Parts: sequence; structure tokens; C-alpha cells
Amino acid sequence: MKYLVTGGAGFIGSNYMHYVVNKYPNDYFVCLDALTYAGNYNNIKALEEKPNYKFVKGDIRDTILIDNLFNEEKFDYVINFAAESHVDNSIKNPNLFAETNILGTMVLLNASKKYGVKRYHQVSTDEVYGDLPLDRPDLLFTEENPIHTSSPYSASKAGADLQVLAYARTFKLPVTISRCSNNYGPYQFPEKLIPVVISKALNDERIPVYGKGENVRDWIHVHDHNVGVDMIVRNGKEGEIYNLGGHSERTNLEVVKTILKELGKPESLIEFVTDRPGHDLRYAIDSSKIEKELNWNRTYTFEEGIKETINWYVNNQDWIDDIKTGEYKKAYTYKR
Ligand SMILES: NC(=O)c1ccc[n+]([C@@H]2O[C@H](COP(=O)([O-])OP(=O)(O)OC[C@H]3O[C@@H](n4cnc5c(N)ncnc54)[C@H](O)[C@@H]3O)[C@@H](O)[C@H]2O)c1
Repeated sequence: MKYLVTGGAGFIGSNYMHYVVNKYPNDYFVCLDALTYAGNYNNIKALEEKPNYKFVKGDIRDTILIDNLFNEEKFDYVINFAAESHVDNSIKNPNLFAETNILGTMVLLNASKKYGVKRYHQVSTDEVYGDLPLDRPDLLFTEENPIHTSSPYSASKAGADLQVLAYARTFKLPVTISRCSNNYGPYQFPEKLIPVVISKALNDERIPVYGKGENVRDWIHVHDHNVGVDMIVRNGKEGEIYNLGGHSERTNLEVVKTILKELGKPESLIEFVTDRPGHDLRYAIDSSKIEKELNWNRTYTFEEGIKETINWYVNNQDWIDDIKTGEYKKAYTYKR
């Protein structure tokens, strides 16, 4: 079977590429990525020699490139990880988020419809459900929750989800959607909480924490997310949405303190800064549907996963340094 994986040079997509290319030697995977600032070719360079893998540099908004690629490759499956993914950037430049996340998804949907793929999978987020109050720990997001977005990022992801469901209903496109909670693990761009904290703590720099650090996120190891996506793509029911969560709710402050403790750094490095506008209070996911239907479960506890992740960043400080200096932009050189 032939797979198109978009956004495969980013954090979650690159972890997915390593997982599936190695797990399924008889399947063929094309990774398409525009290599925006968040795309890092170093994340997937090691896959270059694999016979069941190819990288294509390209933008999901580029209708002609996408049409030519689908025409040439005749994909069976499409998995769309490509997105603008940072909430803070969406507050500065909302239009870019609508263009990439909604219009880019529609370019892929149109090509999937035209060339008749067996399955289109949209990688979405729990942020489409909005947030939950801090004082109601009994409440969790299920797939039945209405969409109720807060940021231009989550609104653009919700817009994409609605288009995916519209193509399923109107054009009978075989689709699935996964909505996952906050991921952590190797190769996460150092703009997101966990790699920022690790990188700054290692250099004894001040660590900015929004507001009082009370916002709660449900953390999942990126590997557990990707195993779930793979299960949905292969065995999930057409037209269905599946939630994925880590059963690991932590306040941002708890996460920061855990990392500082693990690295032997003082809490005095923490600096509380003005809160993000519209900051979602709490996300918590009920993933019982995928647990029951597909027998998925997380394999990492937060305690195990965060230790392994911290070690990865400690042992791969060159990876972060290359991002800081901009050197990572030179990792991709076009080869014929
Ligand atoms: N990070 C999380 O915690 C989380 C949680 C749930 C869902 N998600 C979703 O998972 C997906 C991947 O997230 P991530 O954290 O790996 O993001 P990321 O920002 O690390 O990676 C995004 C990738 O998409 C590529 N890209 C961006 N615009 C593109 C375009 N126009 N054409 C082609 N490629 C483009 C980038 O170059 C980059 O490689 C996103 O759809 C995101 O919404 C993320």
C-alpha cells in the first residue's frame, strides 16, 4: 500500500515516519513537507536510505504540485499532519493558520476525492472542544462534545475537521479524524512548553510561565499518539472521530517543576509572565472509544515518558543548537 504523510518533518509527523517506515517494510511512504520554520529535515534524515520511503518538499496549499503528486503516486492512504501548530503564532498571524490548516486540508481533500483514496485521515486536536473549568475534574471531552474553539489555531483546526466531515457526507470520501491531547517527546520544536523548559534550564536561563501556571493539560507521549493514528488509519471505522489522551493531567507549573527537579535546577529560574490572551484553562480527554473499539491504550506514564524525553534533549543538545543558530535549515539539499 502507498501512503502520503504530510508534515512528516515536524515533531509528531517525524516520529510517525520513523515508526511506520520501520514497522511496515512492505508499505511505501511518501513524506511531503514544506519545511517551514517548524519543519526540520534533520528529524527524518536517517530515513533517506530506506527503500520504502521518499521525501518531497512541497506545500499542501499548492494545488498543482498536490495534483501531480497524487497522479504520479496513486496513494491508497493520506495522513495529514501538516499544519501551523503554535497558538502564540496564531494570535500574531491568524490568516496563515486559516490558509494552511483549512485551505491546505481542502487541497488534500480535493485530490483524495479526485484520485479515490481508500482512506483520508486528519490529525486534529482536543483544542477544537475549547476548554473545561479548573474546578470540575469530573468533566472530560468525548467525541460527542460540540466544537467550541478559543484561539485562531483551534478555530482553524476545527474548520479543517468540519470540511473533512463535509467531504465524507457530501462526496462519500472515506475519512477518519483523531483528536489528541498535548504531546511530548523527541524532536519537538523548542517553542513549545516542554522543550523550552528543558533547553532554558540546561542553560540556567529564566523560564517563562504564563499567568500563575495553573492551566491544565493532558500530556501524552508522541509514540502513544502515533500508535493510535496508525490503528485508526488501518482499523478505524470510516467517518468516525477518535479521541486520544494520556490520562496524565498536570498544571503547567507542575510540568515545569518536574523538569527542574529531574535536571537538578532551582525553582528560582521560574518567571511568571503575562498570560496568553484567551488562554484555555483545562483540557482533559476521554479516550474510552478507541480503547474499546481498537484496543488502543497509552504505554507511557507521564513520569516514565518525561524522564526519557529529558534524557533525549540532554543527549541531543546539538539538535537544539542547530535550531537556535538556524543551521538546521541547511539539512535538506535537493537530490535528483
Ligand atoms: N503538538 C501537539 O501537542 C499536538 C496535539 C494534537 C494535535 N496536533 C496536531 O498534530 C499535527 C502535527 O503537530 P506538530 O506538533 O508535529 O507540529 P509541528 O509544527 O512540529 O510540525 C508541522 C509540520 O508541518 C509542516 N507544514 C506546515 N505548513 C505546511 C504546508 N503548508 N505544507 C506542507 N507542510 C507544512 C511543517 O514544515 C512541519 O514540518 C498538527 O496538525 C497539529 O495540529 C498537535
